[in-house]
Formats: sequence, structure tokens, C-alpha cells
Amino acid sequence: MTLAELPAAIEARGIRRIYAARPTPVVALDGIDLDVPAGEFFGLLGPNGAGKTTLIKILTTLLGPSEGWARVFGFDVVRQAKQIRRIMNMVAGGEQSGYGILTVREQLWMFSQFYGLPGRDGWRRVDELIELVGLEEQRNQRVSTLSTGQRQKLNVARGLLNDPWILFLDEPTLGLDVSAARALRALVVEWQRAVPGRTILLTTHYMAEADELCDRIAIVDRGRILAIGSPAELRRLVRRESIFRLEVDHLDGGPAVLAGLPGVVTATAAARDDGTAMPGADADQRVAVNLVLADDAALAGVVGALGQLGSRILALRKAEPTLEDVFVELVGRGFDEEAVDHPPDEVEPAPAVPPSAHGPGAPEAREVAR
Ligand SMILES: Nc1ncnc2c1ncn2[C@@H]1O[C@H](COP(=O)(O)OP(=O)(O)OP(=O)(O)O)[C@@H](O)[C@H]1O
Ligand SMILES: [Mg+2]
Repeated sequence: MTLAELPAAIEARGIRRIYAARPTPVVALDGIDLDVPAGEFFGLLGPNGAGKTTLIKILTTLLGPSEGWARVFGFDVVRQAKQIRRIMNMVAGGEQSGYGILTVREQLWMFSQFYGLPGRDGWRRVDELIELVGLEEQRNQRVSTLSTGQRQKLNVARGLLNDPWILFLDEPTLGLDVSAARALRALVVEWQRAVPGRTILLTTHYMAEADELCDRIAIVDRGRILAIGSPAELRRLVRRESIFRLEVDHLDGGPAVLAGLPGVVTATAAARDDGTAMPGADADQRVAVNLVLADDAALAGVVGALGQLGSRILALRKAEPTLEDVFVELVGRGFDEEAVDHPPDEVEPAPAVPPSAHGPGAPEAREVAR
């Protein structure tokens, strides 16, 4: 089977998931339709409570949908859970995997046995993965003594043990420092690109992460997909106005003097590029301004006005809208602002993720699919 003949990595129709919570049931997913072709790096971007983890739980067969259906590489999430578990794996941020008293190597070997790797193959795979994720120095260190970033590397190694076709990453860089997060992103990208057809579904709060990694992104809120497309396509949704960043040597009266000009939607003070605070504290009177214009043509008037005011332009650049702008536009609120309050009491506990839930065994169809 060639890559083009592979079934879609994810196909979902009309997925609803309702949790039986008090005082009222929670509609966590409210009609999700999704198609992710094999080989795609796909992102789910949405605020807390949007339903991202619920969708991942359904696709990884840990939770059944209340309505609708979904298939992973052609296998039905309800009727063919066993087949799906062989070809997928999941890594979540902040996961505490395994037993603290075991060493990294022992821990991974134990997981390899859950996944049904024969003894010698298991050890070889364990050592390969230890090297791949960069835990060589910690190889014989107890799991309980690992740092957060090292523990997440261990989780990723665990997630790759069964050589999955599709890897679900639920906020994998949560709590990692900048360099650990960067290393983890590089690792999963490299893993995915190494074999055509390998698919990743990532959830994240970090716009920049989604932007950098994902071929396509679905923006989700309150159990629905609000928009779906490549990062560039999504940004185009908000490209109606022109946004410019302007820096001048001084500006008598501040940004407000520009706000009244024709075609200027808003003119507001911005942090300066060098990161220093607003002007005024010293002799340096430079001012940075965020300019939102009705269209590019309005810029001429602004430049003319600055000339008359005696302000010299030090820098001027057009600002690209960010995914955050897209989000605000679609959701009607900032990314970190609270959505509706759902009742916190859990009537139906989320199932734990036993390591064996992901295994065991290699997929029967693996050779065909590669
Ligand atoms: N077991 C449960 N019982 C009741 N309600 C639940 C349960 N699990 C999740 N929910 C609710 O379902 C909604 C979606 O939760 P989910 O964990 O899928 O969101 P999320 O997008 O992953 O959020 P986050 O970004 O915070 O991880 C939330 O309102 C949550 O409170
Ligand atoms: Mg979640």
C-alpha cells in the first residue's frame, strides 16, 4: 500500500461527548467533524476546557463518544479499539509515568514488555530510544530523581516504544523550560519526518508552538471547531486591517496625536524593540507605536503628519497577525480569559491510563503501511 492509499489517520463525524456531571451535564464535545490525512502534523488549539483532551481520549479509545463515530487509520474507535491501541501512542504533559524506584533503562524495558517486544528486541529498542531522546547520562538513574524535562523525555521515549503510526501529544511541553521544550519539538518533528505516513496530533496552549509545528490547526472552543486550516490560512482570516509598528525619535503629545488622522483605526503606545520601558525617564525620547490602519494607503497621511510634527521615523514595519489575533477574532475573547464555568465535581471519573492500554504488540498491517 502506498502512502496515498493509506486510510485517513483520523476521520471523525458528529462527535459529541457529554459528561454526567452535577448539577447539569457537561457538553465537552459538541459535534466534531475532522479529517486528518496520514502524514500530517495536526494541531488542536484552544483554551482550558475546550474539549481537546476529551477528543484525544476518544481517539485513543480511552473514552467512548456519546454520539457520532471516529476512525483511526480506518479502525473504528469503539469496535476496533484493540487494533488502534497497537498503532498509536500518547504522551501528555506533566505525566508521571512508571515506578520511581526503577532506573530509566529498567522502566523503559518494563514498558517494552507491555508493548509485547521480545526480550532482546526490547533492550535494543530501549537503548536506541534513550539515545534518541538524550537520556544517556540518566540511563541508570532512578525515575524518581529525574527533573521535569528529563521525565518528559522518558515519557516521549515510552511513547515511541511501539513505533506508532500516530502519536497523540497532549500539551507535551507543559512545564518545560524554553530549551527543553525546543529540544522536544525538534525530536518529534524529526521522528515524524523520518517515515512517511507518521502522523501527529498535538494539543497546545502555545500559539507559537502550534504555528511552528503544525501543517494544519483546528481552533476549538466549547467543544466545537471554529476554524481549521494551515497557520497561514488562519492568519489570513484576520488580515482585513493593516497593522504597523512605528518607532520615532520623539512624538510630542504621544501616540494620541496620530489617532485622529484619517484611516487610523487605533494608535497605541508599544514596548520598544530594545525592551526598555516607555519614554520619559531619560533624555531618550524614542516612542514605539502600534498603528492599526483601515488600509495600507492611510500610512502616507501618518508619515506626512510625523514630518509636520518634526518627528523622525527610526523604524517602520508591517506586523503580521498572529494566531492569537485569529483566536481573539474567532472566540471573541483573549486566549487566557475564562470560558463558561463548568461544574467541577466529577461524576464520571476519567479513566486512568494504564501503560498496557497502549499495547501490546506490533500492528499486523505495519509492513503494508510503510
Ligand atoms: N470526567 C469528567 N467529568 C465531568 N466533566 C469533565 C470530565 N472531564 C472533562 N470534563 C469537562 O469537559 C470539558 C472539556 O474538558 P477537556 O479536558 O477535554 O478540555 P481541554 O481542552 O483538554 O482543556 P485543558 O486545556 O485545560 O486541558 C471541561 O469543561 C471539563 O470540565
Ligand atoms: Mg487538556
